Amino acid sequence: MEDRKIYHFCSLSELKDKKKVTKFIDELKDEISVFWMQGKPKAVSTVCPHFGGEFDYDSSKDILRCRWHGWKFDLNTCQSLAQWESYEETSLVGKILKNAHEPLGCFPFKGKLQSYDLHINNDRIEIIIPLTT
Ligand code: FES
Repeated sequence: MEDRKIYHFCSLSELKDKKKVTKFIDELKDEISVFWMQGKPKAVSTVCPHFGGEFDYDSSKDILRCRWHGWKFDLNTCQSLAQWESYEETSLVGKILKNAHEPLGCFPFKGKLQSYDLHINNDRIEIIIPLTT
């Protein structure tokens, strides 16, 4: 029995042209963005693991920054950039952390952004959806 499903996400040429393609995948119950970065595709959730905020993409550093509370994620590793010094002092998070001597509430977050496996099949970007039995 097949333990995964292949979802045709977009064409490779479309992704190379647009640099980012976003779609909701019902089977994953998640909205996915596939980025074209450093000659490779990368698939991640568009939903911030803190509270569901939207991301802005900084292509110069391959960083996603949540619009709601400023959490940042390295798009290569999907790891949170939890070091306090990675936040500009003038940002909301920077202002909150400036005088903190220990983590405040949910800051900083050491978790990971949800990523998804994919592969290139000719001109197709395909997301691999694991099936539960
Ligand atoms: S919802 Fe993203 S940092 Fe809070």
